[in-house]
Amino acid sequence: MNTLLDQIETFGVVPVVVLDHADDALPLAQALCDGHLPCAEVTFRTEAAKEAIRLMTSHHPEMLIGAGTVLTTDQVDSAMEAGARFIVSPGLNPKVVKYCVDRRIPILPGCANPSDMEAALEFGLKAVKFFPAEQAGGLAYIKAVAAPYTSLRFLPTGGINAENLKEYLSYPRILACGGSWMVKSQYIHEHRFDKITRLTRQAVELVREIRRERS
Ligand code: 3PG
Repeated sequence: MNTLLDQIETFGVVPVVVLDHADDALPLAQALCDGHLPCAEVTFRTEAAKEAIRLMTSHHPEMLIGAGTVLTTDQVDSAMEAGARFIVSPGLNPKVVKYCVDRRIPILPGCANPSDMEAALEFGLKAVKFFPAEQAGGLAYIKAVAAPYTSLRFLPTGGINAENLKEYLSYPRILACGGSWMVKSQYIHEHRFDKITRLTRQAVELVREIRRERS
């Protein structure tokens, strides 16, 4: 798990993707690679998710592909069969988390309150998704809950964009930020993969800036 978390931290940003058509998976993967961010959370909000993950992981083994919006153990199985390397969920479903932990499948369950965070610690998790980040209290909330849970790291997602990314990443307990701003469904539908690459590069540059300032 640590190696996976290290990789996520190195990227600093995890693009959260909704793909309606698996045909868009490879152009999207290429756009992210061209933007120097070979990483994505492909959400199980659409029927195309499993095939999209399969295409991305088989054609781009260099990419770190996770499955998002995983609500059931069947979806965990589908994601792993397709080659996903980690699981993300919007909430902490004890059944899904236990299923993953028992099989040593890395999972970042969504937590938005101290009870969920304690449940995650009880499962031995080192990092959780903080969702929906901006709506649930943003960085101020994370700083408050990070105080008692001294070992927990956070992947805030929800309402994060190029404007507030640096603010989040400047706090060391943030592992990385998730977000859809560079891979909006509209851009994918309109096949504006050049725009996705441009916004992805901008996000990568913001991560570099904040890391330079911190070192
Ligand atoms: C998620 O799926 O984790 C969030 O809905 C992504 O949030 P965003 O679209 O506000 O980035």
